[in-house]
Amino acid sequence: MANQEEQFKKVISHAKEYGYIFQSSEIYDGLSAVYDYAQNGAELKKNIREYWWKAMVQLNDNIVGIDAAIFMHPTTWKASGHVDAFNDPLIDNKDSKKRYRADVLVEDYVAKIEAKIDKEVKKAAKRFGESFDKEQFLATNQRVLDYQEKGDAILKRLGKSLENEDLADVKALIEELEIACPMSGSKNWTDVKQFNLMFGTKLGATAESAMDLYLRPETAQGIFVNFLNVQKTGRMKIPFGIAQTGKAFRNEIVARQFIFRMREFEQMEMQFFIKPGTQQEWYDTWKEKRMNWHLSLGIGAENYRFHDHEKLAHYADAASDIEFKFPFGFKELEGIHSRTDFDLSQHEKHSGKKLQYFDHEENKSYVPYVLETSIGLDRMFLAVFSNALQEEELENNTTRTVLKLPAVLAPTKAAVLPLLKRDGLPELAHKLVDTLKWDFNIAYDEKDAVGRRYRRQDANGTPFCITVDHQTLEDNTVTIRHRDTMEQQRIAMDEVKAVIAKEVDMREWLTRI
Ligand code: GAP
Repeated sequence: MANQEEQFKKVISHAKEYGYIFQSSEIYDGLSAVYDYAQNGAELKKNIREYWWKAMVQLNDNIVGIDAAIFMHPTTWKASGHVDAFNDPLIDNKDSKKRYRADVLVEDYVAKIEAKIDKEVKKAAKRFGESFDKEQFLATNQRVLDYQEKGDAILKRLGKSLENEDLADVKALIEELEIACPMSGSKNWTDVKQFNLMFGTKLGATAESAMDLYLRPETAQGIFVNFLNVQKTGRMKIPFGIAQTGKAFRNEIVARQFIFRMREFEQMEMQFFIKPGTQQEWYDTWKEKRMNWHLSLGIGAENYRFHDHEKLAHYADAASDIEFKFPFGFKELEGIHSRTDFDLSQHEKHSGKKLQYFDHEENKSYVPYVLETSIGLDRMFLAVFSNALQEEELENNTTRTVLKLPAVLAPTKAAVLPLLKRDGLPELAHKLVDTLKWDFNIAYDEKDAVGRRYRRQDANGTPFCITVDHQTLEDNTVTIRHRDTMEQQRIAMDEVKAVIAKEVDMREWLTRI
């Protein structure tokens, strides 16, 4: 745990030091759970967005993209269920005056039980050595089975109480488990209350005429209300999808863990409109497609897992999360939801407009079912960035900090380095930058010894360093150094573009899906 915390702290400080993420309005001591993307962060974020957009929109001839407004008619949120049901159960500690999500307090308690199981496994693995069979141990060790049973029973009760809106029982559970305030250790709790997560604002100049609005808590509704417009103008035939990326806002209470849970964040969502009755098939298909998209980045299958929901949101008949192994453990990265006809039917009801599709094959109209894929862009950023940050022991007993971002996503693709600041080398290096910059983001660096410049680019995540030296003056060749292997090759200057392109071209990566 201490290790995990330390690694996470390193991720946060590296993100700041190398111009990826700053706290919002830092000179005023920041704003909780709001962050700014800096010069490198903005590029990485843009590349992740583009990687998603190409895979979802450009490469699927039955998916189109839109860009709906953040402000929407307020009835949208009544229809979607967000006004009545987009709540978190909150509890206050009377002594520390700190506010918590009641379900998170209980889940953290269960996570501690799970950590005990891990500890037992580690102990046994050490004791039994090579002959250790983890599966068998988990299935037979009595202490582990007791922990497992306890954790399962707690989560089951929590799920049931939340489903039945039995907030008194959630409080009773917290008291029975003797959960204490993580800040003060006090067990003096208020009742559990529901708290709506939407931010409200007003449209209009005067108090009397102003209209109450919400900042959208998800981008999905902008797609639903445009369903018919897009279907008709794009002459789309079911099955088809509408995708969009954009900002969403939630007044999160437990807003910690850096950019994992933010109050202003960005989503990349796609709603796939299908024939009722085919939802299981599309649910399976999209689960697989989305997992393959993640795996195409080469971050390692062991870092991902599915978590199928038992407790379903008000709109879903099946739901699964793709969880990623963040520095603080496996947590939700993306949701795949079978949303039935809930949203379109609700908008029909509240708007009085028909939102149906005439199926020529079936010769009838119906409200389509929807399969949704929804991923947080900032969470994807954190997944990629935290996984990439590594400390490497080198052969000469030194270490290097290297940010092994997938080359296709790296903000800067190559740095051009003149070996010395004289003899015409900077001029030649600038010439190379001028030819490469039309295709890639290129850095130029002439300060410090070349070894230090390599380290700087390693920590920055730049996949290639190209060094211009005296031999370049003679035969137009340069050395190209690969970030991950540190290998260097001598190649002709006019080959550089092709070598970089091969490694960073989205086509090369996306064809792995
Ligand atoms: N339209 C469905 C929907 O919004 P969700 O599970 O609430 O579903 C989808 O959110 C994704 O958005 C999550 O998997 C997560 O990646 C991201 N997300 C949600 N809340 C977030 C927050 N406060 N900060 C950052 N990302 C968030």
